[in-house]
Amino acid sequence: MINNNRQALEILTWYHDAGVDEAVSDYSTDFFAKNETSAATAKVVKATPPAKPSLGHKPSAPARAPQASSVLEAGETANEARLLAQSAKTLEDLKTALEQFDGCGLKATATNLVFGDGAADARIMFIGEAPGSDEDIQGLPFVGRSGQLLDRMLVAIGLDRQNAYITNVIPWRPPGNRTPTPHETAVCRPFIDRQIELVSPEVIVFLGGVAAKEMLDTATGILRLRGKWTNFKGKDTEYPALPTLHPAYLLRQPAQKRLVWSDFILIRQFLDGKK
Ligand code: URA
Repeated sequence: MINNNRQALEILTWYHDAGVDEAVSDYSTDFFAKNETSAATAKVVKATPPAKPSLGHKPSAPARAPQASSVLEAGETANEARLLAQSAKTLEDLKTALEQFDGCGLKATATNLVFGDGAADARIMFIGEAPGSDEDIQGLPFVGRSGQLLDRMLVAIGLDRQNAYITNVIPWRPPGNRTPTPHETAVCRPFIDRQIELVSPEVIVFLGGVAAKEMLDTATGILRLRGKWTNFKGKDTEYPALPTLHPAYLLRQPAQKRLVWSDFILIRQFLDGKK
């Protein structure tokens, strides 16, 4: 028992260090029940009371079922999102529209909406996946460890948040930093599309596979996509776009920084008119 408790604590600590710091279900699973080696035989235990959101979560309207993902429902909610997003004439309007939008279940577990940051008239726009824990708390994109690395990468090619615009495909943190579901991505998509139209950058950089695959509508992996110029097709405009590796990946695989450095040189050349 003592061993089991110690092991459980070590596993929880490991999860926490990896960014999984919230319970996402009303049920906890006792993986030590009966057969210690088989998760398949684990016993599901009803938690009392249900897990509460962590630190500073504002009380919010009851969450929509996060996995309510019938194609029909996603389509209807995405239509609602599209109308709302298209009616926004400025970035401020769009932020307000997102604040009023209840069609994405992630809003219920997030602390803050994480909208874009940077220059509204930037020549270049960086688009990541979704906010993490630090972004959720501060309400700003890329302010945690990977954001600090991104800031250093920007400075290396003469950019910063005064002349670049930084945002995410998804504006609310997925619990435990999980990958957004297709339903969540579909209902948030009109807002990032509109954000691109409103900033109207000369060039877009997709940070990581989730952002690149969603926005370029491809199943190709980021290691194949990165470093190759492509076009992002907006409603009325095509934008030159460059996928590159996500800074969080670089924190885990520092040797890959050389690849991103070569991508950032391409970006600098583009901005200098040398593409
Ligand atoms: N990762 C992202 O994709 N976006 C953020 O804002 C932070 C981490």
